[in-house]
Amino acid sequence: MSEAKRLAAEKAIDYVEDGMIVGVGTGSTVAYFIDALGRIKHRIAGAVSSSEQSTQRLRSHGIEVLDLNATGPLPLYVDGADECDPFKRLIKGGGAALTREKIIAEASGKFVCVIDPAKRVDVLGKFPLPVEVIPMARSLVARAIVAKTGGQPVWRDGVVTDNGNWVLDVHGLAIVDPVGLERELAQIPGVVCVGLFARRPADVVIIGGEPPILL
Ligand code: A5P
Repeated sequence: MSEAKRLAAEKAIDYVEDGMIVGVGTGSTVAYFIDALGRIKHRIAGAVSSSEQSTQRLRSHGIEVLDLNATGPLPLYVDGADECDPFKRLIKGGGAALTREKIIAEASGKFVCVIDPAKRVDVLGKFPLPVEVIPMARSLVARAIVAKTGGQPVWRDGVVTDNGNWVLDVHGLAIVDPVGLERELAQIPGVVCVGLFARRPADVVIIGGEPPILL
């Protein structure tokens, strides 16, 4: 499976143009992308990182990590996903980096998502949907999610996000209207970010294989 991740991630290098500042996601697939980016680091102007984990890896390759407030809009964002439907809508946040990932996706002209074939689904929701919450609102948000969706939120106990928040993973969903659910859950007070990337889906999905498949 990691071979498929590597093949997807290395294909994403095709989208990197000279002088670019590249948005970089988080996770084991993106780790391969960062390693490949390290090999062409002289061609890029730097990166904006979605997590402390990716920042460390970027810096270990000597790639400069820049502040999104200073860079402005980015041409390209490369990130993985936990699930991807045929419309390039995603579930993300398995690595708890969903909020910064969604911010960078929003700031980017092109979002290239790199996945292994096991991430493809017809309907999102088998992978528990991550929701980042302000700690004091954990139970309030969990009750609201049960009432609105019938899903079962489970606190990812012991995990603190890079933003100092907590994560609920919502089990038992079959998400037939991802855009509507993303909007509805985002409105619950205390929700920082919903791990549905449907309103702003990926623009290109690369599924790792020999050869990689593009959606
Ligand atoms: C990080 O919070 C996630 O959104 C990752 O993009 C997602 O979990 C994919 O991770 P892997 O590439 O490790 O499967």
